[in-house]
Amino acid sequence: MPAVGGIGPGGGKEYPGNLTPFVTVTCIVAAMGGLIFGYDIGISGGVTSMDPFLKKFFRSVYNKKHNSKTTNQYCQYDSETLTLFTSSLYLAALISSLVASTITRKFGRKLSMLFGGLLFLVGALINGFAQKVWMLIVGRILLGFGIGFANQSVPLYLSEMAPYKYRGALNIGFQLSITIGILVANVLNYFFAKIKGGWGWRLSLGGAMIPALIITIGSLVLPDTPNSMIERGDHDKARQQLRKVRGVEDVDEEFDDLVAASEASKKVEHPWRNLLQRKYRPHLTMAIMIPFFQQFTGINVIMFYAPVLFGSIGFKDDSALMSAVITGVVNVAATVVSIYGVDKWGRRALFLEGGAQMILCQAVVAAAIGAKFGIDGNPGDLPKWYAIVVVLFICIYVAGFAWSWGPLGWLVPSEIFPLEIRSAAQSINVSVNMLFTFFVAQIFLTMLCHLKFGLFIFFGFFVVIMTIFIYFFLPETKGIPIEEMGKVWKAHPYWCRFVENEEYGNGVELNKGAVKNV
Ligand code: BGC
Repeated sequence: MPAVGGIGPGGGKEYPGNLTPFVTVTCIVAAMGGLIFGYDIGISGGVTSMDPFLKKFFRSVYNKKHNSKTTNQYCQYDSETLTLFTSSLYLAALISSLVASTITRKFGRKLSMLFGGLLFLVGALINGFAQKVWMLIVGRILLGFGIGFANQSVPLYLSEMAPYKYRGALNIGFQLSITIGILVANVLNYFFAKIKGGWGWRLSLGGAMIPALIITIGSLVLPDTPNSMIERGDHDKARQQLRKVRGVEDVDEEFDDLVAASEASKKVEHPWRNLLQRKYRPHLTMAIMIPFFQQFTGINVIMFYAPVLFGSIGFKDDSALMSAVITGVVNVAATVVSIYGVDKWGRRALFLEGGAQMILCQAVVAAAIGAKFGIDGNPGDLPKWYAIVVVLFICIYVAGFAWSWGPLGWLVPSEIFPLEIRSAAQSINVSVNMLFTFFVAQIFLTMLCHLKFGLFIFFGFFVVIMTIFIYFFLPETKGIPIEEMGKVWKAHPYWCRFVENEEYGNGVELNKGAVKNV
């Protein structure tokens, strides 16, 4: 079997440093940047299943849902404008993450977070008071701009602040707050949908102001990362900061490596064009493939449309929203498992196990829905056991995602790029993620209508491919200092040919014998 896992422990440096209260609190505050993204993911599906909202903005969907009893269940929500409402945000996020790259690099990670919070705040206000569809769409575009800035800067911030031994756990704080945001949104939708006057959706959409305020205020009080200070020429302050963050006096070795990485990065005039160089081929591949695959797990079919999906497969409105709450709880709980395991078991083990788990569940759900709904989408009466089996396997699927592709889709890209391309490559990661989030959101309702239960087989196929991809192409990055990451590529049986004579960070020479199969 080829040695595809990566280098063994002890193959590199060990910088001194502790998990200080300062770094822990800082990372918790920064990770809250994920709340805005999560809140939005969770809120839109529930809102689009609320009748008063549909009646006001999407009349044709409302009519279809209520008047035509014979309509094929798979197709009742198929509407272009409804999907545009959900997915417009992701195009906006795509564009703003590219702009954020320059701001993050030149002015620091904090400023991008601040912009993210402010834009999201304004978007939430417009949405909460929306009178016409265009206000909804403008609001969502602003929310999208906010998310682009936050998702570009927060994961980088976390990976730079964290001591390398705890980098996985601290970085996954970002994903944890995404999942908490989704859950809170699902719970609020459940209650707001019951408000008598039918204006609960305004509270759901306007409620996004709260996570927006948290990240806005957070970004004002957070310290800058030492890496970013060095990048902007503030060496003395950066050394002080590194001491404070690591909780030890002797930070010289790490500091020198950060400066060396920064010097190397200064030589790079065009970070974007640079990305195309042969030596960055592994990084570029990961920056594109990881977010692409993350979205093609099909997770957002559940996250955006759980209530709609459960509604389509025969649950009543209320129990459909409730099932979304249940999947939300599983999502948060399984992310905590990942925080616990990521620096112990490594990234690859989680990716591979999570992938296998998702494939199994997708097969079962496809079979269960296919058996009951068949091709014409007419289920007849659904027995209770059936609903329980579907929800159960959807939950196991969500758990598989939540300890693998969910957090690792943000963690791995943020830790593998050398400083000179870090900001640009992270923007590619965010843009590709948003592009395919958009794509899946945009086509899901149509796909459900045409592919029917085959939808789950479609995504299951991609999960098979991505699991094989991880096995052969992703080296293990657990326990490797971020500025030392170059050596994992050098030790990889496939990627080594692209990076053989290259120096990364401090260019530690590699002992190929340290390659091991994980
Ligand atoms: C993904 C989102 C997804 C969420 C679910 C994130 O990592 O980027 O698209 O909705 O996880 O928890």
